[in-house]
Amino acid sequence: MRLDRFLTETTALTRSLAKKAMHREEVRVDGEVVKNPATQVDERSVVTWNGERLALVGLRYVMLNKPSGVECSARRGLYPLVRELIDLPHVERLQTVGRLDVDTTGLVLLTDDGQWSHRVTSPRRRCAKVYRVSLAEPLVGDALAHAVTRFAEGIELEGEEKTTRPAELVMRSATEAELTLHEGKYHQVKRMFAAIGHHVEALHRESIGPLVLDERLAPGEWRELTEAEVAQF
Ligand code: URA
Repeated sequence: MRLDRFLTETTALTRSLAKKAMHREEVRVDGEVVKNPATQVDERSVVTWNGERLALVGLRYVMLNKPSGVECSARRGLYPLVRELIDLPHVERLQTVGRLDVDTTGLVLLTDDGQWSHRVTSPRRRCAKVYRVSLAEPLVGDALAHAVTRFAEGIELEGEEKTTRPAELVMRSATEAELTLHEGKYHQVKRMFAAIGHHVEALHRESIGPLVLDERLAPGEWRELTEAEVAQF
């Protein structure tokens, strides 16, 4: 790859700042000052900037048990960001694969591989996402039977052109539901329950497609995915 690209991949420099650093003779390849941004380098090249060795980081794939009170967005707003919980180099490059609300807990995937992220979230894949839902009021009897049918048939949500895709609702107790969705509309779980007159008190994502949240991860903990897990998408 070109040296200027190597610098932008391994540092926070933009392409033009990388060129300026080269011009200031701050960049060396295998011990020699190099000023030409088109110089070809690879992972065996010893590239330094101001004497510090730079190393390419490969693509990373992470699963994290999101606690409540952290945000899945790219920029910091009111809350800390999910990726701030992760101790990896160039963590700013990791993007969440889809989003959870700030108060939702459970499985979040992060990666710097845009194509993989797209494969997981692509609507055409209809990847199943399983949520554990705590309801404020019991959902039982006829109301439950009605909810199961409505969710299976698809319901209209305000502001959406299309009805929701068929979703499976199973009650684990009178107030604990398991809902499986095959899409990811904004606040979808909360809006679906609101549409049948129920308030979601707590929401936790257990799985995305074949990837189930590792039960050894406490809230706030993370681990890299195995190669086999990455290959499942
Ligand atoms: N549906 C919601 O309402 N919130 C989430 O965080 C995820 C799905």
